Amino acid sequence: MTATVDLTPYSGVDPDASWAEEIRALAKERDAVLLAHNYQLPEIQDIADHTGDSLALSRIAAESDASTIVFCGVHFMAETAKILGPEKTVLIPDVRAGCSLADSITGADLRAWKAEHPGAVVVSYVNTTAEVKAETDICCTSSNAVDVVRSIPADQDVLFAPDQFLGAHVKRETGRENLYIWAGECHVHAGINGPELAERAAANPDADLFIHPECGCATSALYLAGEGTVPADKVKILSTGDMVTQARSTKARSVLVATEIGMLHQLRRAAPEIEFKAVNDRASCRYMKMITPAALLRSLREGRDEVHVDPEIAARARGAVRRMIEIGKPGGGE
Ligand code: 13P
Ligand code: SF4
Repeated sequence: MTATVDLTPYSGVDPDASWAEEIRALAKERDAVLLAHNYQLPEIQDIADHTGDSLALSRIAAESDASTIVFCGVHFMAETAKILGPEKTVLIPDVRAGCSLADSITGADLRAWKAEHPGAVVVSYVNTTAEVKAETDICCTSSNAVDVVRSIPADQDVLFAPDQFLGAHVKRETGRENLYIWAGECHVHAGINGPELAERAAANPDADLFIHPECGCATSALYLAGEGTVPADKVKILSTGDMVTQARSTKARSVLVATEIGMLHQLRRAAPEIEFKAVNDRASCRYMKMITPAALLRSLREGRDEVHVDPEIAARARGAVRRMIEIGKPGGGE
């Protein structure tokens, strides 16, 4: 029997003005930059120096002059920052903040899969452990996955891991038959399903649909568009950062959002005049929500939890992560 890890978040601290003042002062003292993913709690997003999607935050981490990065997100994101900046101190406010998608493939799984497809190019989503990245040719995020696969010569087999829904999106967009997809998923996005989306779209006929490609409903959305239930130009498959960019330019007055609900905060900030509604308002990632005001305060007061990546694994993973940040559009973050 495996021991169950206690995932009770650190609590007991109010995100009030004195908290905010102490966070800013401690960050300055530590020469730290605070990065927050779009799924973080609103108070964490608001105190951060930068918020954004996985790609934008990786790029910001790589370019930052700060000697310490405090990554308010999940563990693979902090590991990616450490791979890109091994000389930096990288802190995550709660090291238990994992990711069900990253857990769906191990380094050993990937090595075995590669052995079945000799010569294939391996593309791994950034939502993977450092060990998986070390076995990978090019990493990608939801924002540049299509561009990454397009950058590979058409006659070369591609192994795409670990998200099956993002993989299906990439296969549709590139029309590539020689793309093999690992059957992993994120429990939060897989739970946003097609029937739920169809019901919400029918009740909100004028709304745009912003859909993250990790969602179980992404295929259904395109099917609804294909059969004319939803106008095709209303269906947008977007990374979290691209949702913010799209919110600033859409003419729609109402938008249905299919992703983790932390996203609504950035969207409402970007376009307060639009009504944003979650397709599934229970789609909350418990790992992202472990970065509480108490956890962030502890992190900055005590220098916890420091993220280490084995230098040999980091060296093998660095090329794949660097290729990821070089390919494709900017990613959404500010
Ligand atoms: P992006 O921020 O790259 O869209 O990814 C979303 C995600 O699920 C991260 O866990
Ligand atoms: Fe991982 Fe899903 Fe949570 Fe993103 S939302 S961190 S993919 S478990």
